[in-house]
Amino acid sequence: MNRSDPVTAIYPGSFDPVTLGHEDIARRTLRVVDRVVVAVAETATHAKQPTFDLEERLAMLRDVFEDEPRIECVSFSGLLVEFAKERGASAVVRGLRAVSDFEYEFQMAQMNRELHPDLEFIFLTPDVQMAFLSASLVKEVARLGGDVSPFVSTPVLRRLVAHFRGER
Ligand code: PNS
Repeated sequence: MNRSDPVTAIYPGSFDPVTLGHEDIARRTLRVVDRVVVAVAETATHAKQPTFDLEERLAMLRDVFEDEPRIECVSFSGLLVEFAKERGASAVVRGLRAVSDFEYEFQMAQMNRELHPDLEFIFLTPDVQMAFLSASLVKEVARLGGDVSPFVSTPVLRRLVAHFRGER
């Protein structure tokens, strides 16, 4: 890579749905790289049944980052490292909220490094206000009728409310 080439980082995840914590990490990443590709994985390591399908998750991400031309939102299938190669990315970024995230992230980073030694892994911590946020907790609160407006952007809130209205 030429030093003057723009640096791209992939920010992969399930984003089921994107929270203000994810948004914070993606925007912070732009402080250290030129472009961020927010990439929704078709296959997540911790095989969970997603609440929102891939297209819905992508649509929410695109709404949320509409204002930022340096952030592109896409989905990918197969291995993250292969996707990173295709996109010419030099780094993968992940958020670290607490020590409890570390083991999972460390394992994945080490495995990915075995598969693609040239890729770097950047771990960013979110704003302290978001340190407790997780998509799973946000969904649980929304499902039970709690107010999740402090934790997600308006387009996501709308979809969460619409989704869980049918379940109550
Ligand atoms: O938000 P998540 O569910 O913690 O994200 C996990 C994700 C999507 C980053 C991880 O499952 C992944 O990279 N999936 C793509 C398939 C892959 O490359 N698996 C090997 C990981 S070592």
